[in-house]
Amino acid sequence: MTDPAKVRRVAVIGAGTIGASWAAWFLSRGLQVTVWDPAPEGEAFVRRFIANAWPAIQQLGAPCASQDAISFHATPEQAVAGVQFVQESAPERTDAKRALFAQLEAAMAPDTIVASSSSGLMMTDLAQDLRTPGRFAIGHPFNPPHLIPLVEVVGGQDTTPETIDACLAFYRHIGKHPIRLNKEAPGHLANRLQSALWREAVHAVAEGVASVADVDAAVAYGPGLRWALMGPHLTFHLAGGEGGMAHFIDHLGEANEAWWRSLGQPTLTPEVCRAIIDGVAEETKGAPVPALAAQRDALLVALLQIIGTRRPAQ
Ligand SMILES: NC(=O)c1ccc[n+]([C@@H]2O[C@H](COP(=O)([O-])OP(=O)(O)OC[C@H]3O[C@@H](n4cnc5c(N)ncnc54)[C@H](O)[C@@H]3O)[C@@H](O)[C@H]2O)c1
Repeated sequence: MTDPAKVRRVAVIGAGTIGASWAAWFLSRGLQVTVWDPAPEGEAFVRRFIANAWPAIQQLGAPCASQDAISFHATPEQAVAGVQFVQESAPERTDAKRALFAQLEAAMAPDTIVASSSSGLMMTDLAQDLRTPGRFAIGHPFNPPHLIPLVEVVGGQDTTPETIDACLAFYRHIGKHPIRLNKEAPGHLANRLQSALWREAVHAVAEGVASVADVDAAVAYGPGLRWALMGPHLTFHLAGGEGGMAHFIDHLGEANEAWWRSLGQPTLTPEVCRAIIDGVAEETKGAPVPALAAQRDALLVALLQIIGTRRPAQ
């Protein structure tokens, strides 16, 4: 697979929260989608998911799209027959993904590429039993993949540069914003960034610095608003005034280093977990998760419509 425009058929292997969302996005880009999931109610779940996601996807623009260009298959081998690209979204377990990859490898055409949605497993580990590890890469989306543009692409030690380039080109072609990671790490990059922030958020609750709701407000009503527009480096470049990043480092670099040295190292003890779970219940006043997710997705669509690709410095 070299030319992303030549991808007509994509397999979604594992179709839970992430796979179903990928299927919705692929369909919206006019691709034919084949699905395999071992759950008996898998097809009904995916069809329901796509129907629910469709209005939001259409608001973002879905040229030549049809919800009907999807087929469900009894085996992974059948699902990958004749596809140019496979998006694997099976459970986050090394043994399960390894076994699945071996099955896919035996059934796929020689130039078909497999991208794994894995949140944090490394392809070097996942591909160790494969004969053709060169065409397996991580293509890690953010939930929900039909709305969030980011996809992290990273290979294992045997993934070929051509596979990485093809994944980047394919995701770009279908309207995602892929980034290339030059090195593997547990959790890739974006989950590590999220986790670094959550660690300090947990520490703040554990130490009684603020309530769960106020810790969340400290992000959502503050720096989180800027982070939807630009990352931490560019944010601080602007914090440096006309002197930009050089002045910021000169002025506040040392203070940041001192804060780094005092950052927390919390542990998820039963007491800390209880405090966070109770705090979230208080914050959400009992609103069910699906209702909160629907609210989030409506606001995400509105935000994406405003921002589009018009981020500063892009
Ligand atoms: N949920 C997230 O926020 C998120 C975000 C990004 C990436 N991911 C990654 O996506 C992948 C799937 O996560 P999810 O949240 O969709 O999980 P999920 O539990 O919602 O879905 C997993 C699906 O895989 C199916 N399945 C079970 N065994 C399987 C097998 N052997 N082969 C293929 N499919 C199998 C299940 O029936 C289920 O439908 C994981 O690797 C996860 O790390 C998750």
